[in-house]
Amino acid sequence: MTYGLIGLGAMGWTMAKRWLNAGHKLVVYNRTREKTKRLAEKYPDRVILAESPREVAHRAQYILSMVADDQAIQAIAGDDEENQGLLSALGAQHIWVDSGTISPKISQNLSRRTLERGAVRLEAPVSGSVGSQGR
Ligand SMILES: NC(=O)c1ccc[n+]([C@@H]2O[C@H](COP(=O)([O-])OP(=O)(O)OC[C@H]3O[C@@H](n4cnc5c(N)ncnc54)[C@H](OP(=O)(O)O)[C@@H]3O)[C@@H](O)[C@H]2O)c1
Repeated sequence: MTYGLIGLGAMGWTMAKRWLNAGHKLVVYNRTREKTKRLAEKYPDRVILAESPREVAHRAQYILSMVADDQAIQAIAGDDEENQGLLSALGAQHIWVDSGTISPKISQNLSRRTLERGAVRLEAPVSGSVGSQGR
């Protein structure tokens, strides 16, 4: 099974490691490419680098996003093909789990736009922290 992950911050990096250590392949996009390259160096046979959130959706059916805030989620989610946003590639085969902490208004808007494309979006913010599992 290949999963997609968008956002390799403190939380996303830790989640990525869990997935990879469990033996899964992961298609990864992060705004700052050095982080994705660093992850790929650690797991060369399991990490697939994506050039955009849109590419993540082309390569994976189940996608987790873990980015900072309203601005960040809107930057990766755009439904305009030109900006390579996630929404622009979503279809009925996709399940998008969004675990960042964002405002309810933005979240509802993204869920509506996801549904319009036939996909499912789960609002799944988390508590806890990276602790000793960090980078
Ligand atoms: N850290 C915690 O203990 C904790 C606990 C519970 C919940 N949370 C929530 O989890 C989410 C992630 O937290 P974190 O600690 O992992 O944050 P972080 O380490 O600051 O990482 C933020 C991530 O968002 C990306 N990002 C920020 N602005 C962006 C933009 N404009 N466009 C595209 N990407 C952007 C960053 O990309 P770059 O690498 O390019 O900067 C990075 O991948 C937040 O919503 C936070 O509230 C965190």
